[in-house]
Amino acid sequence: ATDAFTFDPGFTSTAACESAITYIDGDAGVLLHRGYPIGQLASQSNFIETCYLLLHGELPTAAQYAEFETTITRHTMLHAQFDRFFEGFRRDAHPMSIMVGAVGALSAFYHDSLDIHDPVQRNISAIRLIAKMPTIAARAYKYHIGQPFVSPRNDLSYAENFLRMCFAVPAEDYVVDPKMAKAMDRIFTLHADHEQNASTSTVRLAGSSGANPFACIAAGIACLWGPSHGGANEEALLMLKEIGTPDKIPEFIEGVKSKKYKLMGFGHRVYKNYDPRATVMKESADEILELIGADNDPLFQVAKELERVALSDEYFIERKLFPNVDFYSGITLSAMGFPTSMFTVLFALARTVGWIAQWEEMLADPAQKIGRPRQLYTGPTERDFVPISARG
Ligand code: SDX
Repeated sequence: ATDAFTFDPGFTSTAACESAITYIDGDAGVLLHRGYPIGQLASQSNFIETCYLLLHGELPTAAQYAEFETTITRHTMLHAQFDRFFEGFRRDAHPMSIMVGAVGALSAFYHDSLDIHDPVQRNISAIRLIAKMPTIAARAYKYHIGQPFVSPRNDLSYAENFLRMCFAVPAEDYVVDPKMAKAMDRIFTLHADHEQNASTSTVRLAGSSGANPFACIAAGIACLWGPSHGGANEEALLMLKEIGTPDKIPEFIEGVKSKKYKLMGFGHRVYKNYDPRATVMKESADEILELIGADNDPLFQVAKELERVALSDEYFIERKLFPNVDFYSGITLSAMGFPTSMFTVLFALARTVGWIAQWEEMLADPAQKIGRPRQLYTGPTERDFVPISARG
């Protein structure tokens, strides 16, 4: 058992909920999943083990891990009729629009037999969602680029399966590079959960009404899509491309300081220090770029110089603005071969375990009630109706 935190964030009165899953100390730049630091999980664990930890509260034994991984692997297929769902989208539809629709549509295939008040059935939904998200995400990508779907295989790891479903083509064999698979797995681990962020709060609020988990996760995906949230990884890379070369950085920084635009991938609602995930993401970017022989990627040089300039500028220092998880992820994902339109899809794929773990935690609480935030009313005081003929 972990020592109970004698921790008073000073906002217990306005806290949205109690949760034992993830702890963030924004001032110290600390992120723990069930007590384990994200840096240790990213370097010593893997995504499937982190999924088990988030769902069950403890790291699995070897036997538990093997059973869990096999169960996930054996649920990666989609109903054959489900593939026709993708055909309804325009080819140029943003993959996130497909994700919102497709995950919501899972309700039509797996919801009617689901009792969300039965913990066993809740866990089956969690397994199905974690297992099927890579298959749906890869199909969204393949549909977007007009290539045939690639089915999952049971002899591959979670990350290997996903990379193969995205990048394999019938015309030739595709062998997943183990270093790419390790980088993909680490990126999934870094994005797995993050306390009560906007999309997790969306999933909790939707789930509090008793809505089925597939619909709740679709709501979370919709919220994550916003550029202030999960959409920032796509915006951050587009920003680096727009800057182009390090000599353009001073002009860009002046534009940020005059509030023309934000430095995407910087700042955070909670972290007023370096996002610990950004540290690991920056190391991964280094490794991936070296792996593919792109260690001098000009955008990575721009990003590192932009970070150096911003972190030494009073404007960012006094506002406690540091790189967040999205600042370096785009460079890494782009180097792995993903288009910017897939960046938030990968974020949603990884965050599904955090969303569903928080959904399960909420439903396991017997005192749980429907969420109902109140408001401060700022509208007119009571007044009588005026017929249209008398409105002048
Ligand atoms: C994620 O909540 C989570 O946990 C989210 C997430 C997760 O894992 O789920 O961590 C994922 O969403 C990370 C954040 C990704 N978003 C971006 O990178 C977009 C760029 N960042 C900003 O939009 C912004 O930093 C937010 C939205 C993330 C936070 O905005 P806040 O709460 O308004 O930030 P703040 O109150 O700390 O701002 C203080 C000042 C303000 O200026 P002043 O009015 O005081 O002059 O800093 C400014 C802000 O305008 N500011 C920025 C800035 N972020 C804040 N100025 C320039 N560039 C930025 N990125």
